[in-house]
Amino acid sequence: MNAHILERMIERLEQVVAGPRRRLAFGVSAALAECVTERDWLTRDPLAAGQEQYVRHILYADAAGRYTIVAIVWRPGQRSSVHAHYTWSGAAVYRGELTETIYRVSRGPAPPFPVSNIRRRPGDFTFHWPLNEIHRVGNESAETAISIHVYGVGCEWLATGVNRFIGPASASREDARRTAEVKK
Ligand SMILES: [Fe+2]
Repeated sequence: MNAHILERMIERLEQVVAGPRRRLAFGVSAALAECVTERDWLTRDPLAAGQEQYVRHILYADAAGRYTIVAIVWRPGQRSSVHAHYTWSGAAVYRGELTETIYRVSRGPAPPFPVSNIRRRPGDFTFHWPLNEIHRVGNESAETAISIHVYGVGCEWLATGVNRFIGPASASREDARRTAEVKK
């Protein structure tokens, strides 16, 4: 890994999280956009892929617990569950292609339903405020994809404080178990 790229991103995020909240979305997005325009700063070594499910790799955890930077490796066919986020979060595609499916909440007891699919390519980035969007992300391509994420929680909350799973309770438990398998 090219530590310089990551250090620069951390420097920017330190300023952003210490600054006014109204600048958070712009600042996090700008830091992510800058880091994914740099090519090949993440080596294959720390980025093992999972056989069954996508794998999160912690790149940096703020000692004060204000944010955590994560790389996620997605093999072809690997997808998240349908979820919202408990915390603010930013994401950008570093390599490959991901598909984000946006859901709408149904009236009554029916589960949320998909309304659009957006292809995310290297350099594309998004920012979500807590609970303002329900989505699912997956790798529908034939190549492994890597995305970089910034979550507004300390690393000890990655498993339970980021994704709010939407769906049957059994599926949610299984997702929580898999998400807990965070690799450092
Ligand atoms: Fe998400």
